[in-house]
Amino acid sequence: MLRLRNIAKTYPGVRALRGVELELRAGEVHALLGENGAGKSTLIKIASGVVAPDPGAVIELAGAPVEGATPRRMQELGLAVVYQNPTLFSELSVAENLMLGEDGPVISWRRRAARARELLARVGATIDVDRPVKELRMAEKQLLEIARALGRSAKVLILDEPTASLSQQDADRLLDLVEKLRGDGVAVLYITHRLEEVLRLADRFTVLRDGAYVGTYPRAEVDRARLVRLMAGRELAELFPKVTAALGETLLETRGLCHAPSGVRDVSLSVRRGEILGLGGLVGAGRTEFARVLFGLAPATSGEIRIEGRPIRVASVSDALTHGLAYVPEDRKEHGVVEALPIAENISLPVLRRMGGAWLAEAAENALAAELALRLGVKAASIFVAAGTLSGGNQQKVALARWLATKPRLLILDEPTQGIDVGAKAEIHRLMGELVKEGMAIILISSEMPELLGLADRIAVFRRGRVAGVLPAREATRESLLHLALEDAA
Ligand SMILES: Nc1ncnc2c1ncn2[C@@H]1O[C@H](COP(=O)(O)OP(=O)(O)OP(=O)(O)O)[C@@H](O)[C@H]1O
Ligand SMILES: [Mg+2]
Repeated sequence: MLRLRNIAKTYPGVRALRGVELELRAGEVHALLGENGAGKSTLIKIASGVVAPDPGAVIELAGAPVEGATPRRMQELGLAVVYQNPTLFSELSVAENLMLGEDGPVISWRRRAARARELLARVGATIDVDRPVKELRMAEKQLLEIARALGRSAKVLILDEPTASLSQQDADRLLDLVEKLRGDGVAVLYITHRLEEVLRLADRFTVLRDGAYVGTYPRAEVDRARLVRLMAGRELAELFPKVTAALGETLLETRGLCHAPSGVRDVSLSVRRGEILGLGGLVGAGRTEFARVLFGLAPATSGEIRIEGRPIRVASVSDALTHGLAYVPEDRKEHGVVEALPIAENISLPVLRRMGGAWLAEAAENALAAELALRLGVKAASIFVAAGTLSGGNQQKVALARWLATKPRLLILDEPTQGIDVGAKAEIHRLMGELVKEGMAIILISSEMPELLGLADRIAVFRRGRVAGVLPAREATRESLLHLALEDAA
């Protein structure tokens, strides 16, 4: 269905791709793997006509060469792409997003709504088609993107990290959908850092490393360890044992915390110095909303926040920063990095804010940025390039680094490793261990059960805005967490 040959792409100072090959057959799920910055997104942007390759590239669809591919032309030829960063119009409704460019000159609202519902049904989503997209959860946006891509009767579907921001349940549903599409003869190219998914699903695997083509392998020839080796080019210790730091006194405590508009109700939790408190639950259960209350983004409507036993007022982000709280949000595309600014300034931003706007000496700023970028393995030509030119995973690392730079007392991490490759993920886990050893407290929101179970000391499970239960991680299991997350309130 799709053949790419001799693909190269050079950006100033970066060879994003060279000599890459890819061949995609009808009715197969083909995994495209590689570390952060390996060139995966660039390759699919070339396939879809968004980015022009260097001269010499050959792109063929269903056996016919395509010259001067543009997004519109590739779309018409049956190629559909769901990009790593959502491309929806947040001010428009679900139906409007789905039907953009599909309507004839006279728009029938009723027909459009009906067609929108049909497309959503195909991906198993029940979303009110009149809602504005900005109100949707990440999982819903993702399904909407896929529904939109499929709407154009695609023969080739390319998914760039479709499950990165989905809960286990939503992700499973998506994988079922991909299997169904394969059964219908669609050729699927699937990019992910969650290797379990593609080991379960994919028929063949193509691996990129540092922009170069490593090879294509049938399912029977690979396992997890081999894939990691192929991506990293070396043996990699993926898992670090959990660091058990000595627990200190209670750092932060909430009593009956509520935020009426987002449905956060009566949350009483505490976290000690040296502790990692995990927050589990389904996407939309109120974990992110709770974090936003703590960080002053959505100040509490009632209840109390105490630090070291003393009640504090968190009415704004600057209050939160003053008390030593830091928050790495989930939606890093919108709140994480300032794309136009260099990496160095992105990392030092909150430090500047905390210091009341006083400028750090440039040398100190750069030294700090360089150290953190190195520790997190940010792949970039230098710390002076614009953050917007980094690969998705590397932007995530910058977002993390900037908050680590504030040396907070309490660090709230919302899905810190989504979209991050296996090596860097282990590095982030190790770093979290070091931080709690130094006496920091961490609140970790994660939809990946192994991450929660492996890192947290205790896990609080949220359900419909409330804490359904708190378990010591040692005693918790996938089943017990899921049970708490789903159980109907008595
Ligand atoms: N517009 C651009 N300008 C300069 N460099 C770029 C640009 N787009 C991508 N790059 C560089 O090309 C390389 C490959 O990036 P790409 O986004 O394809 O990686 P990726 O494999 O998708 O990584 P990730 O898993 O983090 O999403 C990176 O080094 C990135 O910094
Ligand atoms: Mg990418």
